[in-house]
Amino acid sequence: MPLTILVGAQWGDEGKGRIVDWLSAQADVVARFNGGDNAGHTVTVGSQTFKLHLIPSGVIHPRPACVLGNGMVINPETLLNEMASLKAAGINVSPARLRVSHAAHLITPAHRALDQAQERARGLGKIGTTGRGIGPAYTDKASRRGLRLEEMLDPPAFAARMASHIRETNMVLQSLYAADPLDADKLSEEYAAYAEKLAPYISDVSAFLARALSEGKGVLAEGAQGTLLDLDHGTYPFVTSSSPTAPGALVGLGLGILRVERVIGATKAFQTRVGEGPFPTEVSGAVAGHLRGTGANPWDEFGTTTGRPRRVGWLDGVLLRYAVRVNGLTELILTKLDVLSGLETLRICTAYRSAGKPYTDLPLGPADLSPFEPVYEELPGWQEDLSAVRRRQDLPAAARRYLERIETLSGIPIRLVTVGAERSQVVETS
Ligand code: GDP
Ligand code: IMO
Ligand code: MG
Repeated sequence: MPLTILVGAQWGDEGKGRIVDWLSAQADVVARFNGGDNAGHTVTVGSQTFKLHLIPSGVIHPRPACVLGNGMVINPETLLNEMASLKAAGINVSPARLRVSHAAHLITPAHRALDQAQERARGLGKIGTTGRGIGPAYTDKASRRGLRLEEMLDPPAFAARMASHIRETNMVLQSLYAADPLDADKLSEEYAAYAEKLAPYISDVSAFLARALSEGKGVLAEGAQGTLLDLDHGTYPFVTSSSPTAPGALVGLGLGILRVERVIGATKAFQTRVGEGPFPTEVSGAVAGHLRGTGANPWDEFGTTTGRPRRVGWLDGVLLRYAVRVNGLTELILTKLDVLSGLETLRICTAYRSAGKPYTDLPLGPADLSPFEPVYEELPGWQEDLSAVRRRQDLPAAARRYLERIETLSGIPIRLVTVGAERSQVVETS
């Protein structure tokens, strides 16, 4: 450290939670910078599994302070539930340890109702959102009528703002979407109770982080979602409404550029996506079954937040190189290599083809991938179980070759490989 940024290099669910948990052993502060409870970060320590939606995954280690940045949108009910279940597991979530930005925005039931009504109205053109109100909360932020957490510190003014926000949204819900209105007075009361509970946690986290960095402390910025879900740089419009890419960490925490030392990209050893949108290397049939799993294991490809089966495919080297570029990645962490064991042959997309012409880069970014067909390279698979391997040299030759090919294609080193969901199942590679 000083400031290390960890981002997802794909469409989310790359295993960021377990990587943050691993990196947190060295961190003084872990700070989440974007998104809300659309995220689901899973960390397995021994026989215990934690599913985190808002609180940084560094919370499981006793030492680091934990921060929720201004770039986030926060559902207070989810946050309080998450705090309660961590506390029940013996984890410290006191205001001395956990800080929430005064400038983060609130998600309300009105945002959730709008998200769901908008998805219904999109019909076949739906985005496949998590239904957590993310898009409408960021819409309110951008149109300068959002509710910031700092407003919770002035209870009477907050109650009035909350009631008028619900009443205004009711007009939209009823007139545009023929949806049921929400009870403004009841929700205003409910949110007043959340405000009372959260008030001790609310502060200027940018100042706290700047102080930590100037004291030489190590800060780890934890991204949610992934590069291809970025509002500007992802597969628009099939994206989320925040900036999960590395610059989002600076805006979403209130930090300057020169503090950044490393930018780590998390990628699975294959590709997954949940929700709608393009996916050039998507597969079906037996290979998909192998990559996804049946749902019997906790790490099988079913969404942490929504339980939806994830779409799966071969690793896409074109999109990985794109992620290296737009984030300025300095290194990769590759997860779920163990899942590839047992496949005869592996495929990796090294380029795209359109109208007979090869492309190794995206001429107009990833929003419209429909003209492209993936060009695959085949590599031999391996049969060995990797779950107990801890050194790169102990991996089967075919697995080592797969890693080397990814390093060549991406142009950056793979720093760590994970070979199982449990905290200790990692191979340090450089
Ligand atoms: P995140 O959103 O990026 O934190 O990722 P998720 O937690 O949503 O999804 C990753 C899933 O893969 C979780 O169920 C993890 O427990 C699991 N996982 C992470 N690393 C590995 C690994 O190396 N091997 C296996 N089999 N599972 C892993
Ligand atoms: P983590 O942090 C995977 C996807 C949704 C949908 C799109 C927009 O666990 O990696 P939204 O509710 O954000 O408006 O949905 O983004 N999505 C995710 N996919 N992992 C996530 O988070 C995601 N958060 C949102 O499925 O396609
Ligand atoms: Mg996830």
